[in-house]
Amino acid sequence: MNDNLHQLRCFGCGARIAGAEARPDFRCALCGDLFEVEYPGWSQRKGPDRPNPGALKWLWRERRCSSEGLDHSGVWRFRELLPILDSLNNAVTLREGNTPLYHLTRASKALGIDQLFAKHQGMNPTGSFKDTGMTAAMSVAKERGFEWVACASTGNTSAAMAAYAARAGLRSLVLIPEGKIAWGKLSQAMDYGAVTCQLKADFDGCLRLLTQIVKEAPIYLLNSVNPYRLEGQKTPAFEIAEAFDWNVPDHLIVPGGNLGNSSALGKGFREMHELGLVARLPRISVIQAAGANPLVRSFETSHGAALEPVEAHTRATAIRIGNPASWRKAARVIQDTGGWCLDVTEAEIAIAKAEVGAEGLGCEPASAVTLAGLKKLRAQGAVASGETVVLVLTGHTLKDADYTIDFHRGTLLTDEESVGREAEIGGLQRNAQAVEATPAAVLAAMKDRVE
Ligand code: F0G
Repeated sequence: MNDNLHQLRCFGCGARIAGAEARPDFRCALCGDLFEVEYPGWSQRKGPDRPNPGALKWLWRERRCSSEGLDHSGVWRFRELLPILDSLNNAVTLREGNTPLYHLTRASKALGIDQLFAKHQGMNPTGSFKDTGMTAAMSVAKERGFEWVACASTGNTSAAMAAYAARAGLRSLVLIPEGKIAWGKLSQAMDYGAVTCQLKADFDGCLRLLTQIVKEAPIYLLNSVNPYRLEGQKTPAFEIAEAFDWNVPDHLIVPGGNLGNSSALGKGFREMHELGLVARLPRISVIQAAGANPLVRSFETSHGAALEPVEAHTRATAIRIGNPASWRKAARVIQDTGGWCLDVTEAEIAIAKAEVGAEGLGCEPASAVTLAGLKKLRAQGAVASGETVVLVLTGHTLKDADYTIDFHRGTLLTDEESVGREAEIGGLQRNAQAVEATPAAVLAAMKDRVE
């Protein structure tokens, strides 16, 4: 593996630079936009660096039975499509990826879509999709000799970064909005040994501050403005295609926060298509919370050409982001694949999350926007019953247990938020009950539930 296989291309002005020339904030010196990793050798047809699709499919499958550590990673198993390291010895892995694709049996029936699946990225080592990106970018940090890494986070990035930094033997700095991240995530950053600073600022403010800090000190920035993060985060696209025997699903639905993930998955599918691994692209739709919907507004007002930041409010704290860094990339993915961008209310998120829970899977609130969004798209007639649809569930249900308990106790939503949906919500609530310690009382509780 050789670094020379990749370069960085500015998404805004197209300027190309070598990987090591990127500025600490990963912004283009000419226009200020973000970079994308590109592999020039891939565009030369029959060139020696252009991957061979048939050989790759065979190799990647073989690696599933391999005893080599790196092959156990669902990211590095696809390493031919992310040749970003000089030496694979620098790869920092927790055996991320290879996450399950579940059939959503109940939601399938309820929505009349037979082929409805969840790609559960919450089943990663630290419980979110961030692990796939972190293994890639942390490996670059290690290879480039950094001692400190840092991120601003709504919680999951910090959990993943802290874990991978600990594995790599690096120090990590986390900036989080005080009181606005779920305890499960905060506990992870502490446990994995990060320097965790809770700031009186929102996520956007934390990221702004960190951008200044990395310009003043030799700290490697690990937010998704770092293009290597997206190289790791594109690999679930390969797993999804592989799971469908290289026939891509019709539609992929992704939550939208800082918009790195939708950008990365779009890049993954685009590259597979360009290399001849798959014959077409899925539609990729991005769903935001109604109180944190700058991309939805951008599509409404300018078809995704301009974005006005908003002050974000949602209980799905993972996606409480008003000024998403990767919005241009995500807008392009939606436009190029014919996807939609829409938002869902707090009640719609809570109901969808309980429904994913009732499937025996569970997910965190931000992930549930995908099912809530699909329900809306289905109601609008935008998704046909014969389509194959994959929801990307981004985080594990235990990340935000408070939200779940509040929902089931009936203390999550205000009356105003639940208006008109009381019966639906009541039908999903499963509060724990105090029961006398006798067989008769327990059997009576079961009978009550059945009735
Ligand atoms: N779902 C979960 C569970 C997340 O943690 C995030 C982002 C998203 C969806 C949105 O993904 O930002 O790529 O559009 N969490 C970040 C964090 C911002 O700091 O953990 P995105």
